[in-house]
Amino acid sequence: MAFKPLRIEDLSGYLQSTGPYELVPLEAELVDSVWGIERSVQSHPWSRALFEDCIGSRQSCLVVKHGDDIAGYLIVCAAAGNAELLNIAISPAFQRRGIARSALEHLITKLTGIADTLYLEVRESNTRAIALYDHIGFVEVGLRTGYYPANGGREDAVIMAYTLETE
Ligand SMILES: CC(C)(COP(=O)(O)OP(=O)(O)OC[C@H]1O[C@@H](n2cnc3c(N)ncnc32)[C@H](O)[C@@H]1OP(=O)(O)O)[C@@H](O)C(=O)NCCC(=O)NCCS
Repeated sequence: MAFKPLRIEDLSGYLQSTGPYELVPLEAELVDSVWGIERSVQSHPWSRALFEDCIGSRQSCLVVKHGDDIAGYLIVCAAAGNAELLNIAISPAFQRRGIARSALEHLITKLTGIADTLYLEVRESNTRAIALYDHIGFVEVGLRTGYYPANGGREDAVIMAYTLETE
């Protein structure tokens, strides 16, 4: 089966079911806001350079906008029928409003024809993210031992997968 390429413009659009939230491609002037959210919610944040590298590259960063406010972001890449969610975060002020779930459901719909499976890795201790992924229908498919740096050592990554619709 031939898969379509991932084009960030095709992933953009308004989220259903959460009000006026819009997914737009990351642009240079949004990097500071996005990186600020990253540092406020992640124990081991990505560097600013990693976000800059997402602009116009194989890794697509989509920003969740609410008017002029930045509510969060997600980063995805896809190749050869496999897509991977590399990062997702919602600003504390916008959490528990269904935004991450709605953004992931939007992504899942848009990945039809681009990939047949969406993978992600999550820290074993990140129970709220695992609850989100369970809620959407991801299933655990493996474990990477000691994958993440953690305070005072290493932490396992849980590998989760979602089977996408095929066209
Ligand atoms: C994980 C995260 C992205 C969830 O974003 P969110 O927009 O607040 O999530 P939603 O409101 O869409 O929640 C959807 C479901 O996920 C689960 N969930 C989300 N946050 C939760 C929490 N704090 N505690 C328990 N369950 C939670 C619930 O099942 C929730 O459904 P419900 O509200 O009907 O109970 C957000 O907490 C975050 O940015 N965390 C820090 C970054 C991070 O850990 N990213 C994941 C890296 S793999």
